[in-house]
Amino acid sequence: MMKKRTAILISGRGSNMQALVTAMQEPGFPAEPCVVISNRPEALGLSWAAERGIPAIAIDHRQFANRMAFEARLHQTLLDHNVELICLAGFMRLLTGGFVDRWRDRLMNIHPSLLPAFPGLDTHQRALDAGALIVGCSVHFVRTEMDSGPILAQAAIGVLPGDTAETLAARVLEAEHQIYPLALRLVASGAVRIDNESVLFDAPVVVDKPLVVPRLAATH
Ligand code: GRF
Repeated sequence: MMKKRTAILISGRGSNMQALVTAMQEPGFPAEPCVVISNRPEALGLSWAAERGIPAIAIDHRQFANRMAFEARLHQTLLDHNVELICLAGFMRLLTGGFVDRWRDRLMNIHPSLLPAFPGLDTHQRALDAGALIVGCSVHFVRTEMDSGPILAQAAIGVLPGDTAETLAARVLEAEHQIYPLALRLVASGAVRIDNESVLFDAPVVVDKPLVVPRLAATH
C-alpha cells in the first residue's frame, strides 16, 4: 500500500497533530507523516515531532513581507517533502485563495464547533452564550472562506450543568482527537469523493442514534 504523504501544520501545542501522528503509526494506516510545519518557531508541537524523527520546520510568518511571500515558502516546503495531503491542526494563519486552490480537496482543517455554526474564534463561549445544548467539532476540506468547506466528519457532545468554555473545550478536544484521524483515514484511503461541494463516502452508511440533551437546571 502506498501511504499518502501527509503534512501537519500547527501553531501551538499540537495535540491534534499528536493524535494524527499516533494514528498514522498504526499498521495499515493509509497515510504517513512526512513533515510538521509551524508558523510559530516556539510551538511546542515542533519539538514533539522532531523527537519522533519527523522533519519539523518553523516558517515564521513575521519574517515575510506579506501573506503571499509566506505562502510561497510554505508551498515550496510542502513540494520539497512531496506532500500529498495537508492537515491544518490548530494552524492560526488564514490562507489565501491562491494557496487554498493549489491544494484543493487535499487540504483539511479541524474546527471546534459543529460547522456551519460558530466559525471563527472563541467558539465554546459563543455556543454557551447562545444557549446551545449540543456542541462539538468538525473536520472539513478547506475553502477560501474561514472555517468553510465540505464537511468530512463531526462529533457532538452535550453541554452539562456547570460547563464553562474551558470544560467544554477539554471535552470537545477529546472528540477532535477521534475524528481527525478518522477523517484522514477516509481521505487517504481514497474512499472520499466530493460532489457539488458535499463529501460522499464509498462506504456503507452508518446510522447512529440521536444525541438528546435536555435543558437541565443550572446549565450555566
Ligand atoms: C483545536 O481546538 C482545534 O480545533 C483548533 O485549535 C485547537 C488546536 O489545539 N483549530 P491543538 O494545537 O491541536 O492542541
